[in-house]
Amino acid sequence: MNMHATALAHPNIAFIKFWGLADEARRIPANNSLSMNIGCLATKTSVTFDPALKADVLTLNDELVSGDGLARVQRFMDRIRHMAEKDLYAHITSTNNFPIGAGLASSAAGFAALTLAGTVALGLSLSEKALSALARFGSGSACRSIPGGFVEWVVDPLTGETYAQSIAPADHWELVDCIAILNQDHKPVGSEMGMRSAASSPLQAARVADAKRRFSRCRTAILSRDFAALSQITELDSNLMHAVMMTSNPPLYYWRPGSLAIMQAVKAWQAEGLPVTFTLDAGPNVHLITTRASVDEVLHRLRQFPEVIDIRSGIPAGPARLLEQDSPSRTVQV
Ligand code: PMV
Repeated sequence: MNMHATALAHPNIAFIKFWGLADEARRIPANNSLSMNIGCLATKTSVTFDPALKADVLTLNDELVSGDGLARVQRFMDRIRHMAEKDLYAHITSTNNFPIGAGLASSAAGFAALTLAGTVALGLSLSEKALSALARFGSGSACRSIPGGFVEWVVDPLTGETYAQSIAPADHWELVDCIAILNQDHKPVGSEMGMRSAASSPLQAARVADAKRRFSRCRTAILSRDFAALSQITELDSNLMHAVMMTSNPPLYYWRPGSLAIMQAVKAWQAEGLPVTFTLDAGPNVHLITTRASVDEVLHRLRQFPEVIDIRSGIPAGPARLLEQDSPSRTVQV
């Protein structure tokens, strides 16, 4: 057995958001979600099982991790050990080419890469569906970073199984995600904790009740490359999730004044005919989705905002994949 593997995965941006679990222990989402993998961002994770170790050791961006962050990864590794029926611990080394914990879905890319590298290193050979189903126990949205391109995370109404699958490959639609980064700090309330209080918002039931309709419209918009329809449903879905966050107990305010300024500007740009739309995850950064033809214009306009400290842009990306060799540098090659 090899005992060692390295994998790379991209984070994803959801057009239809996952926010809240119908079953926490089995990690069944309250609603189906839809996303696109983001090409400019990636996490590379190496897993090496070592018979001499008494516990997993985690290094994230060259820093040794302890406490809750380590415990979360160790619990996830326990699942892999259980599946493989092996009692071995590992050195886990993960590097990102983007700031973690700032709403750029570091946990999605991180757990997707860990799922692939961890299972392969321990001799398991899982299907994409099984990898995706497993990844959701690390972080819900991680299951959507296993398949490539445009991805849906669904619950099978007959079997109750839940996993993500590609609805279209990365080259299906020449969209670009321009991410306006307003804050690189670690967010105060992570999505796992925030989501636990989703049901305390009187708006969550309404958000979930209408999710099937939004999901189906968004799916059709993606498949038919209908930017206007995608735009309408993406903004609605993002606003609904943030309305739930803001009305939860305790309330969660992820938007910053700068986030709102950009959202309002997008509405004005749309009125001028620019194909651009926005969506925000559990953080203040604004993802502006546009077409390849309009990306320079969108980037130029975004640079005018004093609140924007950095901008990343990426086209739709492929699935989580194994890397043949460890690259010697810390740099994540995308
Ligand atoms: O992957 P989690 O469990 O951290 O949840 C992510 C939730 C959002 O990013 C806010 C929405 C989504 O569907 O990606």
